[in-house]
Amino acid sequence: MISSEQNVWPAGDVTRVPFWIYTDDEIYRKEQESIYLGPVWNYLCLEAEIPKSGDYCTAFVGDMPVVVTRGPDGGVNAFENRCSHRGSLLALKQRGNAKDFVCVYHAWRHDIKGNLLSVAFSRGVNGEGGMPPDFNVCNHGPRKLRVTTLGGLVFGTLSDETPPIEEYLGEPILARLNRVLRNKPLRIYGGYTQVLKHNWKLYFENIKDSYHSSILHTFFATFKVSRLSQGGGLIVSDSGAHHCSYSLVHQGGADKEFDQEKLRSNMEQEFKLQDKSLLEVEDEFNDDTRAQAVTIFPGFVLQTVHNTIAVRHIQPKGPNETHLKWTMIGFEDDSERLQDMRMKQANLAGPAGFVSMEDGAIGGFVRRGSAAADKESTVVLMGGMSTSSSNSRATEGAIRGFWKAYRSYLGI
Ligand code: FES
Ligand SMILES: [Fe+2]
Repeated sequence: MISSEQNVWPAGDVTRVPFWIYTDDEIYRKEQESIYLGPVWNYLCLEAEIPKSGDYCTAFVGDMPVVVTRGPDGGVNAFENRCSHRGSLLALKQRGNAKDFVCVYHAWRHDIKGNLLSVAFSRGVNGEGGMPPDFNVCNHGPRKLRVTTLGGLVFGTLSDETPPIEEYLGEPILARLNRVLRNKPLRIYGGYTQVLKHNWKLYFENIKDSYHSSILHTFFATFKVSRLSQGGGLIVSDSGAHHCSYSLVHQGGADKEFDQEKLRSNMEQEFKLQDKSLLEVEDEFNDDTRAQAVTIFPGFVLQTVHNTIAVRHIQPKGPNETHLKWTMIGFEDDSERLQDMRMKQANLAGPAGFVSMEDGAIGGFVRRGSAAADKESTVVLMGGMSTSSSNSRATEGAIRGFWKAYRSYLGI
């Protein structure tokens, strides 16, 4: 493994990304420290996963395991899932309801906010052993996160310097997020976790890559769900860290430029849908948008395709593995028709989904293709060199934005 100490990335350039950035152990360690434990809002879970007092679920902030709880006051708390004593996990299940967290190893007890309450046999047994008299439970405990909620999403940060989430995202990104969430109580339809055998940044780049969607994804192009010839746009936050891309309803017409490219993904003659109801749409947001992806740095995605709404959380698991946690959502007041549509259209998303399957594979192709290319770089020049928003999605502006933000967090 080549250490990042020996590798240099020319200052200011986000149009060439060196391949060592995806595999380097030292870079992975720096990311944990400077990004995940740094001044960012990490997605933790949905409020709908912990509706009642005592409800909890487990999550990750980079490598750090975290417990998210609903307190008796209705507030949301988050703390490191690490016992104050010798570091065992406190919560072993993915979710549940608890009045406190008693460590399975030596029964040190923590409250719902992660405060250490008591130590088993602290006074010893029969006058022997026990903790030193000056041991104070108040001075020990797992790290706590600052928590914020936004439209039913829960985010946490370990840094005092992270700005309020509205400021962190900026108004244009916030608006595209609120367009979907609208502060309405969420309903969870289901979820799954996809294991990707490549670096987390390859997946985040893929989501920010508005150029690929109608080229890689046969279903998108063939059934005119999203083509580069359709209306839409790309919004990149000023920091570059967050983005939104969206496409509008197909307006008919010949798609001359699109068809001239003779793309593998455009198979109108070869493929027909037997059950056309899969692509029925209810325009629930009244804006003719048919697909939208919003990303929040460093690992959150809210994606809608027709009436399917998916939350994705990109979780790094070492330089060469990523877990992608999907939660399919809708709203508590979904009509029966919308519930049926969301369930059926859930087939569009996920590891085997008609329009997501390829995203899971392509990072592996990149990893295998670039296996001996540590000293080489990618070319990220589509749409020029800027990281700004544009009306066209034939650009890699959001990827450049990602690298701009990434480099500033890492100081490289
Ligand atoms: S590690 Fe938790 S009580 Fe000992
Ligand atoms: Fe994709």
